[in-house]
Amino acid sequence: MTPQDLRRHFPALEDKAYMNWASIGLIPGPAVAAGSAALAAQAELGDGIITDAKPTLERLRQRSARLIGADPGEVAFLRNTVEGVSTIASGFPWRSGDNVLVGTVEFPANVYPWLHAQRKGMEVRFVEPSEGALSVDDFAAAADEHTRMIAVSAVQFTNGYRIDLGALSEFCQERDIRLAVDSIQALAIAPFDVSETPIDYMAAGVHKWLCGPVGFGFFYVRQDRLDELELNEVGHGSHVRPGDSWTEYDWPLREDAGRFEAGALSFAHAAACDAALELFEETGVATIHGHATGLAQLLIEGLQSEGYRPLLPQPASQAAGIVTFKSERHSPESIEERLRDAGIFISLREGAVRISIHGANTSDEIDALIAALP
Ligand SMILES: Cc1ncc(COP(=O)(O)O)c(C=O)c1O
Repeated sequence: MTPQDLRRHFPALEDKAYMNWASIGLIPGPAVAAGSAALAAQAELGDGIITDAKPTLERLRQRSARLIGADPGEVAFLRNTVEGVSTIASGFPWRSGDNVLVGTVEFPANVYPWLHAQRKGMEVRFVEPSEGALSVDDFAAAADEHTRMIAVSAVQFTNGYRIDLGALSEFCQERDIRLAVDSIQALAIAPFDVSETPIDYMAAGVHKWLCGPVGFGFFYVRQDRLDELELNEVGHGSHVRPGDSWTEYDWPLREDAGRFEAGALSFAHAAACDAALELFEETGVATIHGHATGLAQLLIEGLQSEGYRPLLPQPASQAAGIVTFKSERHSPESIEERLRDAGIFISLREGAVRISIHGANTSDEIDALIAALP
């Protein structure tokens, strides 16, 4: 499927230019249909939905594992990024005096769970980016012999900077430091493959670039780290029921990452997510990334020629779909308003205008954005 074909699955793009995927993605038509069908199935079947939904859950587990180069047994479905990060932060076997390195530019979803885990005797050590974006060198300078974990976003939400995860992974492996990645700003827009770039844990909601529903997320735990995490939540979902009884509480714990799915999952969310992911699989993340970073480059050049200041005009290898900029002459709010009046939807973050470009966007939309700027 080409980016043009992908675009046809987003009916909302017929009458607006949406460049706000880094905030909330539009849900493509087939995903709306699949989610609605799952609700209709429960309306019709009642408890038959459990059998009915099984193949979808299985397919989604395979698809989400393929997306990140993992084994299906290493993937769990949770509600959002925070739940995934909390599962790591609260479940990790901290020793008193340990520290975790966290950037000062992280979204709170990747900060509060670590701060909360300080009650376990570990310390959150904040790392300041030295040159606008967090780099491997920044982490290397902050790490010491008590550093047990580095928590980082694959793509920074404020400026779209894609950290060199390969180099960070090597750094962590050499020092036996765990690497926990918030990948919500990377999945479906930038290559992300744990079979090439080993990490220990990953958490991501699906409601941004993956264009799934709000309230559903992927969690990855490397096979050999499964038993490292203490479970915060356990329930019937975390266990295997060996026979027919529901009240013999001697069920063994699931051997795969499914043990983190303590109770019932949202079948409607899973079905919608599966259909959205199918579109991205058919298009290919490498194609989407090439398309989006090409448009981002056009945008950066257009902005510069109009006197705007892109914050991080990074090379495509370190870019995802986000471009942020400021103006000496106009406030971010007035720029957003002008763009909204022209039917172009973007967002503001930390005093800058943030444009997020996906595979479904076009060069005409970039031209229209440049033309609409004050
Ligand atoms: C880097 C990053 N992580 C996480 C989130 C969201 O976290 P959650 O899925 O828990 O709502 C966002 C944006 O909302 C984000 O930009």
